[in-house]
Amino acid sequence: MAQLWGGRFTKETDKLVYNFNASISFDQKFYRQDIRGSIAHVTMLAASGILTDSEKDQIINGLQGILADVEAGTLKITDTYEDIHSFVEANLIDRIGDVGKKLHTGRSRNDQVALDMKLYTRDEIIEVKSLVFSLIKVLHQLMKDNTDTYMPGFTHLQKAQPVTFAHHIGAYMEMFKRDYSRLCDIFDRMNYCPLGSGALAGTTYPLDRELTASLLDFTGPTLNSMDSVSDRDYIIEMLSAFSTIMMHLSRFSEEIIIWNSNEYQFIELDDAYSTGSSIMPQKKNPDIAELVRGKTGRVYAALTSILTTMKGIPLAYNKDMQEDKELTFDAIDTVKGCLALFTGMISTMKLNMPVMEKSAMNGFTNATDAADYLVNHGVPFRDAHGIVGQLVLYCLDKNISLLDMSLEEYKAISPVFEEDIYQTISLEECVSKRNTIGAPGANAMAQVIAINEQYIKDIETA
Ligand code: ARG
Repeated sequence: MAQLWGGRFTKETDKLVYNFNASISFDQKFYRQDIRGSIAHVTMLAASGILTDSEKDQIINGLQGILADVEAGTLKITDTYEDIHSFVEANLIDRIGDVGKKLHTGRSRNDQVALDMKLYTRDEIIEVKSLVFSLIKVLHQLMKDNTDTYMPGFTHLQKAQPVTFAHHIGAYMEMFKRDYSRLCDIFDRMNYCPLGSGALAGTTYPLDRELTASLLDFTGPTLNSMDSVSDRDYIIEMLSAFSTIMMHLSRFSEEIIIWNSNEYQFIELDDAYSTGSSIMPQKKNPDIAELVRGKTGRVYAALTSILTTMKGIPLAYNKDMQEDKELTFDAIDTVKGCLALFTGMISTMKLNMPVMEKSAMNGFTNATDAADYLVNHGVPFRDAHGIVGQLVLYCLDKNISLLDMSLEEYKAISPVFEEDIYQTISLEECVSKRNTIGAPGANAMAQVIAINEQYIKDIETA
């Protein structure tokens, strides 16, 4: 049992207590960040005249050696250490002797772990951003390829009005663009360095916190040492953004599952992204979409858990905060895995365009357009709505669509109808007439696609 704090104790820690308290099994995940933070810390200590250059060089060499050996697998991180900080410090002292004992000058594990967790999540936010961006690029391509792939738009899962696949995908495009921008915002807000805050009240050493912050690529140092060691807002914000990403992926998964069903057959998932049944030979199941939908709960759970953990904690550091790690790590792995798989799944799926188009033509998706036709010929909208209701009833009775009715049949219900009704309620025209920005009409879509094209370029060249 290797601990950093034996001095004032007269008894060994109870084994169960030690295990309950220890965090090495999970905080070893940020050994790189811990070493990176320590290197910045001693660099600053030397620049501030607190360590000599030679002491700094020995410590940095030792830390780099530990990093190299851990990466090479020749130095194992084991549970004989309480946490990753103890592991690194004890190994440093083993390696370079007493000078290693100077590493922790002007530092507490409270500001150290606050830094490590920030460095770790900061790196992960960058990775998640890039996965969201890959998905955005796939969505952009799907939009460009499908501006005239017709499909029904739904409300209440009932056919409502015709749209295009590009338009439907464009809705998700907007969601994931917002997700991307949320991650950027969080990054900017969290990017302040807590190191140098000590246990809670700063230190008596003349630390150069600006230097530490700039060595670690932070915008600057945090401004209150008590807040620095007890702030986990950035984790909550990140998990909230991840929860929203998962909510979007889950909704999208639900649609994929519906579209891929035997009843809809709008799409077919690639074999590589489907699974079979052990008993029913005919089955090709959308397990990936179902798992993404299912895993959303884990990410929500992490958010709820940390919000609950933090709500009763007085300032400053309390050990409850150690609970920020495992669920956060799991949420990070979950969101990254789901984004990567989902992107692969939708970039390989096939669209069954004739089925989608046929479905768009059924279900009276052009009924609103028939009513608009009457309005454009001077009929008040409420009356038009009633007349088209009668048309629909008539068609339902005969099991036909509005396009199948003869002009005589139309005129029997309202004399306002003329030959051009057929053109007006054709699928093409129902979509192409909806041309205000944000609508599925070709011109409106072209405008949005151009905006998205520029959006992607701006990120790629930033
Ligand atoms: N393992 C601890 C955590 O994750 C590190 C900080 C320990 N600080 C302390 N005062 N015991 O929060």
